[in-house]
Amino acid sequence: MASISDIDKSKLPVHIAIIMDGNGRWAKQKGEHRIFGHQNGVASVRDVTEAAAELGIKYLTLYAFSTENWNRPKAEVDALMELLVGTIHKEVPTLNKNKIRLNAIGNLRSLPGNCYKELMDAIGQTSKNDRMTLVLALSYSSKWEIIDAVKKIAERAKKNEVAVNDIDEKIFSSALCTHGMPDPELLIRTSGEQRISNFLLWQIAYAELYFTEKLWPDFHKEEFYEAILDYQNRERRFGKTSEQISASNRQ
Ligand code: IPE
Ligand code: IPE
Ligand code: MG
Repeated sequence: MASISDIDKSKLPVHIAIIMDGNGRWAKQKGEHRIFGHQNGVASVRDVTEAAAELGIKYLTLYAFSTENWNRPKAEVDALMELLVGTIHKEVPTLNKNKIRLNAIGNLRSLPGNCYKELMDAIGQTSKNDRMTLVLALSYSSKWEIIDAVKKIAERAKKNEVAVNDIDEKIFSSALCTHGMPDPELLIRTSGEQRISNFLLWQIAYAELYFTEKLWPDFHKEEFYEAILDYQNRERRFGKTSEQISASNRQ
């Protein structure tokens, strides 16, 4: 099993994103309701957040609820929202103790009123923390985010604040929910599914993808270290040749 001492602190990803999947299957395997899996998934969130902050990761983005997840049975959606409100409320003192700033991306206005309020309060109460930013993707989908960015830029163009010919990657990135954050270098998905499910399509253009069979409630610090070690053993070429990368590493 991987341990923290195996990790090269000089080669850490700045931003790690995680598709936390498999709560329902985890519960089913135990003969329990899906929501039991979500409840146990919270412990993994706590564990991985702590591990990331201890290591010195600067941004951790967790996919907690997708736009498509609104199509789940109402009882599951309600239970998830309730779990979210309760967890955010309870975790604020720990976030402050660990100097972690909370942020959120997605169509936040579509969340139930109490959930939106709790989230905004927690974001406000942790805004001065600077050790790590924990980003929750809530009511998030990448296609929604991209369309939203296009609308914002089109409005600016209409008011002549930006010329159509000047629209570039920088302007586009700054209209996304993730503006001001670096793109994730590492994307982890648990539960054995090998798909992106509408998550950060623009931002993961050059991310390393790591898939594990572990179901989210079974994903703890050791599994997180394992994913980082796997990342550290890869060569990130960005279109160049292996020889070019070795030469620039020697300089
Ligand atoms: C991930 O677990 C949590 C959410 C999507 C909210 P799932 O609920 O998707 O669990 P599986 O994939 O059905 O096992
Ligand atoms: C992706 O998981 C969304 C979250 C982890 C919040 P899903 O379980 O909803 O994804 P699909 O439907 O299997 O692709
Ligand atoms: Mg799933």
